[in-house]
Amino acid sequence: MAEITIVNASPRAPKSNSKIYAQIFSDYSDLSTDYFNLSPKNHLEIAQKLDKCNHLLFVFPLYADSIPVGLLNFLKFLEQNPPQKKPVVSVIVNCGFLEYSQNDIAVQQLKLFCSINDYPVGSVLKIGSGEAILDTPFAFLVKRKIKKIAHSISKKRYVNLHTTMPLFKKTFIKASTNFWINKGKSNGITKEQMETMKIEDDKVV
Ligand SMILES: Cc1cc2nc3c(=O)[nH]c(=O)nc-3n(C[C@H](O)[C@H](O)[C@H](O)COP(=O)(O)O)c2cc1C
Repeated sequence: MAEITIVNASPRAPKSNSKIYAQIFSDYSDLSTDYFNLSPKNHLEIAQKLDKCNHLLFVFPLYADSIPVGLLNFLKFLEQNPPQKKPVVSVIVNCGFLEYSQNDIAVQQLKLFCSINDYPVGSVLKIGSGEAILDTPFAFLVKRKIKKIAHSISKKRYVNLHTTMPLFKKTFIKASTNFWINKGKSNGITKEQMETMKIEDDKVV
């Protein structure tokens, strides 16, 4: 039985940055890990694992300054179906913006859940520029912090960490704007089309 249950709560879990962050964590972890892509169908399966592990690690993206709704629903499920033994809850949260502090509210939300429901809080890693950093020469910065958080959990010496790309805000905004314009182009969509609200339409007018 694995000692750490890792729950990837990204709504695009199978293709997510969170999946890569979770994999890096597993590679560095001295403790054995079990990995789950969170879905509405596996709440019970994950909850049953929690009785048999010592640590729960949530890995997820920031969505609208908050935890993703799928994670919120899982927390509600845990409130209704609490494990008999509460694991220590640690967090790796990543956001698109440069500032890692954008993740503060999401971390507070999880800490509130833990304090109301008697889960001990472990380590926290807040990642800024989480969509981009792994594809840049700064990837080593985030890998280094994930290694630290993995060791902190195995040694039970919990830490609060953060990282982001060491760029000026202007440089980051310019680079990310170009990235999304090119992404749109490769999907046959112009910048002007992306600036409309008609994101769900097949043909944007
Ligand atoms: C619907 C939606 C809402 C988002 N909201 C925020 C936000 O409020 N702040 C932010 O910095 N990034 C935001 N992002 C960016 C994601 O946090 C970022 O792309 C992250 O790397 C996605 O991680 P994932 O691949 O693990 O899902 C949002 C992305 C989406 C799709």
